[in-house]
Amino acid sequence: VNYLVEKKRGDIIDIIINGLKQLEYRGYDSAGLCIEGDNPGELLLYKAVGKVALLKAKVDAATIDKNKTFLSHGGMAHTRWATHGVPSERNCHPHRSDKKNEFVVVHNGMLTNYNKIRTYLEKHGYVFESDTDTEAIAKLLKFINDAEPNQTFDVLLKKALAILEGSLAVIVKSTHFPEALACARRGSPLVIGIRAQKDVKEVPVHREDIELVKPGEEDKVLDAIEARRGNSSTNLLAAGGTSSGNLLAIPGATGGISRSASQPDLLGPDPNLYRTKSTMFLSEDDQPIPIEFFIASDASPIVEHTKQVIYLEDYDVAILNDGELHVHVAKPKTQEEKIKELLPSPPPKPKPEPKKEQVPKGVIQTLELEVSRIKKGDYDHYMKKEINEQPDSVMDTMRGRINFQEHKVRLGGLVKEMERLKTARRMIFIACGTSYHSAVGTQALFEELTELPCTVEIASNFLDRRAPIFPSDVCVFISQSGETKDTLNALNFCKAKGALCVGIVNTVGSSISIATHCGVHVNAGPEIGVASTKAYTSQFITLVMMALVISEDNPKKAARRREIIDALHELPDQVRRVLALDIDIKTMSAQYYPKERNSVIIGRGHQFATCLEGALKIKEITYMATDGVQAGELKHGPMALIEPALGIILVMTDNSLFPEAESAFEQVRARGGQPIILCNEGDKRIPAACTPIGWLESLLPPGTTLGQKQRNDWMGARALRIPKTVDALEGILTVIPLQLMAYHIAVNQGKDPDNPRNLAKSVTV
Ligand code: G6P
Repeated sequence: VNYLVEKKRGDIIDIIINGLKQLEYRGYDSAGLCIEGDNPGELLLYKAVGKVALLKAKVDAATIDKNKTFLSHGGMAHTRWATHGVPSERNCHPHRSDKKNEFVVVHNGMLTNYNKIRTYLEKHGYVFESDTDTEAIAKLLKFINDAEPNQTFDVLLKKALAILEGSLAVIVKSTHFPEALACARRGSPLVIGIRAQKDVKEVPVHREDIELVKPGEEDKVLDAIEARRGNSSTNLLAAGGTSSGNLLAIPGATGGISRSASQPDLLGPDPNLYRTKSTMFLSEDDQPIPIEFFIASDASPIVEHTKQVIYLEDYDVAILNDGELHVHVAKPKTQEEKIKELLPSPPPKPKPEPKKEQVPKGVIQTLELEVSRIKKGDYDHYMKKEINEQPDSVMDTMRGRINFQEHKVRLGGLVKEMERLKTARRMIFIACGTSYHSAVGTQALFEELTELPCTVEIASNFLDRRAPIFPSDVCVFISQSGETKDTLNALNFCKAKGALCVGIVNTVGSSISIATHCGVHVNAGPEIGVASTKAYTSQFITLVMMALVISEDNPKKAARRREIIDALHELPDQVRRVLALDIDIKTMSAQYYPKERNSVIIGRGHQFATCLEGALKIKEITYMATDGVQAGELKHGPMALIEPALGIILVMTDNSLFPEAESAFEQVRARGGQPIILCNEGDKRIPAACTPIGWLESLLPPGTTLGQKQRNDWMGARALRIPKTVDALEGILTVIPLQLMAYHIAVNQGKDPDNPRNLAKSVTV
């Protein structure tokens, strides 16, 4: 949204499309755009199936005047990852209320009661154009507005939000509110960037209570709205009014100026708000200031325009209109607040929840993000860039936290909960995907150092079981994005049970980092490639540091802690040495995977996580069926897969479990398996343990044999040798060759590693 900042339509389109490209990693089934037309209030929509580039081509080809200038303009766009309805133009956002585009909506998240709303509205003559849940929002807004015209934008949206159930981040444009934009967050993230010709430090915040419609009562409330059609003189505050209470009572409905719920509508504007307002958006001599706003699902498309941002929180509704941004906190009352109101005496005090220091609402924060970190630079793909960044990202994770001389670790985000962390009875690690694997990779070390039962849970499975959780538990939530729905739901579940909730999160300001009691930022820097790489190694290190911190008082563990801290010191350099294997890995990938080949990655102990994570990388971006196999389980099933055609990678690093890994090697070889071995530099046992030439020769064209020198060269190429580190950290070094291998296989086979089919980076549904 630009206000008093003159811009050509073409430039506005560029800003929006470039921003959308930056967000493409979140979903890329289809993309759409909404900009203002030539006449006030007119909205133009463009949609394309596939990537943002196709949308751009469509808009470029459109016969619209790209040179038309706007002094004020609001536009929006969306890139989709299908939840309801196949990827197609009709299901592509923005969705609209009607052919006149009265309300146009883009939405992330998933509505759970959209079918009820859709059925109701269809009965009342609304014709739906798509299979999406999102379209119900646009139609619902029109329904509410038609029944009672002339409501303010925030009130309309709040009324719709009270009826909608499920998760959302939504942005709305309307022909009724030209140049304005309304947005709301409930469960899916939204960030607003502010670039003004004046230092704006905070924005006005309006607090209001709303009552959510109870599940199953949608029809009743919609009937109540319908009954008001044509009766616009009635007091808006009494809208709703069914048996479940004043369902849609929104204080301040008539003026859009906030008052507390207890203040009657007659009070007039809150003088405080006017004071703040004038300091916010007017110049010294009370003139409106030129200002631009950038709204996005995360900060990556914003940072090139401004570093001043506000992160919306759940139940926030933000209205951008006439050069101003107002945040309305439209929150339902909690059970406790309701009880408090009903009881004559104060209710028993609940146990105080540990609180993190939070940025006060409405206060603008400064992003610590450099534009260069979210650009591909000289790399062909983000994934390759992020793999190669690991010497720096692992360093960034440890920076300022480990004193290598004194063998001390300090994690500032855990300090005030240290007592509870050290007296916990049990630790539960909960995450999804790659983040889950980082917990698998560090579970043994946690158990060893903390001497506590430590379990690792896939968030969805944990929730399915409603597993028992107690206040003496520490629950650790690991997430790169900090937005993964299942992990967030598990966090809310554990919080309600009174457990201490710790966040291990990469994205600052994300939902999980806000909702946890304490935590550690992973500091890997922005990760754009859908297949997580540097976030994994940084999560791994963060968890290792956390185990070191919790065990710092245990003298029995001092030597082991020292050994690990010394090894961490060596790590960035060792990561660099592993990355130097890139050329070998590229060659090996082309030879070993000239075409699709089912695969297994076998290992045990500290290496099991590498097997799972390596297999996930390969399947995510190459689409080859690949399993991570715990070597001890080989004989319980996976052995049936072993044959010369199967791709096999065996992790045989130099640790106490080497004999077991060697036995797995023998079992695999005895059945004709031809594994690539991941082992340590200088480990003499590997050539002795292998009889490799046979399978290497099988890769040569028929009739060709290897000379002695070639035999030696091939020997070197077949085994991937990485530097030796302490067993508990091996997982960081063994996973990198597999990240590289997945990358090269995908590229060799013509697949796009950054945008694998059917996947999205941030799964907020
Ligand atoms: C998606 C991504 C994965 C990621 C997982 C968990 O599936 O494609 O790369 O590991 O979500 O995401 P989180 O942001 O919670 O780590």
